Amino acid sequence: MDFDVTAAWHVASPYAFLSRLRREQPVFRSEHLGAYVLTRYADVRAAYGDPRRFSSRGSLTISRSLTEETRAKLGEHGSFLSSFVANVDPPDHTRLRRSVSRAFTPRAVAALEREFRRLNEELLDRVEPRGEADFVTDLGHEPSVRLTAGFIGVPAADEAFVQARVKDWFQLFLSPQPPERQLELAGSFLTYLDYVDRLVARRRDEPREDFVTLMTRSGLAHREVVELISTILLGGNDTVPNQLGNSVHRLLREGLWPVPDELLAGAVEECMRIDGASLGSFRYAAADVELHGVTIPRGALVLLSSDSAGHDESVFPDPERFVPDRPNADAHLVFGYGIHFCVGAALGRLQLRTALEVLGRRLPYLRLTGGAPSYRRSLVGRGLTSLPVAWTRT
Ligand code: HEM
Repeated sequence: MDFDVTAAWHVASPYAFLSRLRREQPVFRSEHLGAYVLTRYADVRAAYGDPRRFSSRGSLTISRSLTEETRAKLGEHGSFLSSFVANVDPPDHTRLRRSVSRAFTPRAVAALEREFRRLNEELLDRVEPRGEADFVTDLGHEPSVRLTAGFIGVPAADEAFVQARVKDWFQLFLSPQPPERQLELAGSFLTYLDYVDRLVARRRDEPREDFVTLMTRSGLAHREVVELISTILLGGNDTVPNQLGNSVHRLLREGLWPVPDELLAGAVEECMRIDGASLGSFRYAAADVELHGVTIPRGALVLLSSDSAGHDESVFPDPERFVPDRPNADAHLVFGYGIHFCVGAALGRLQLRTALEVLGRRLPYLRLTGGAPSYRRSLVGRGLTSLPVAWTRT
């Protein structure tokens, strides 16, 4: 048995497999991923916390599965993420992270709550009368996409364009694709890059009160700003809605709907622990690393499985059980750990709590109506492609 993102069982629920790995092969060499996989909580956390031995440099450049032709089309952009903050080590990381963090102060994040609430209410005003919807396409994405676009400084008229391009990009780099589809997605990605490039140039000339403008004044190089903006749009447009969909699915299956106020913060953490939207992060071994009798050779690719860590029975007793008030649920590693800890974690948590609170109040009779949900096939993220729901009183 191996990691296989093309297999439905693996995408939906790899937990029996991960549990066996934690017990029997805590350093697992995956042929399919071409990587070593760490599955125990203590090892995953230690590796996140040790950037000298587990380097982030180039770790997000998952263009390994791209064909020659696609690589040629992408040209220098094949290694596009080479100066993105999550893809570099100190000292570059320290410098980039300092600039980015300036935009994510607790005050700035808290100020977004009202706007996010408004976006959710407004969407529900439109959708609620229908009585049913696909949560993923009709309810889960729009408020986060619009909040992120507004915060970054993408004009409202371009939001749909950006959303579609970001999706294509995610597919190209993070999910295996047939050769013709790769070329198509590469074309879309280049269009997106060009768009962000022009947006950054425009804000340099005509500053506004937004993240793009702030970054153009931060002393970063043009390319660094373009990469940062492109990837932050990805963070906001994709991970939060995926986590929200996974969470709603879980809460409805567990019968915890609407979530009582006093359980909300804990339930969000438990949903992340048990159904995390991020499955883990890649690193390169910067030296030979000895672990549990295995030598991970210098230069090898390593997957730190936060998904498995969140299900590690030595840290989270009875890990397959959903416990909304689990005392240590927030010790999950779904936002990573250490110097690369997710810069948008507070914003992500705020969105999840706010969305669940508004949805619970407006749609108290929400229920699942479809059969088995379908998942996207991705190496690093878990998200539903569809989740049919209804909310009329039965
Ligand atoms: C539930 C939602 C989210 C999840 C699960 C998530 C997950 C992660 C993870 C696992 C990392 C660490 C990557 C690594 O160590 O290699 C990370 C880093 C990062 N995230 Fe998030 N994220 C979320 C939301 C966001 C949002 C809303 C933003 C921004 C608007 C964001 C921006 C970033 C950035 C810029 C980094 C890089 C930080 C660094 O390298 O220092 N994320 N995220």
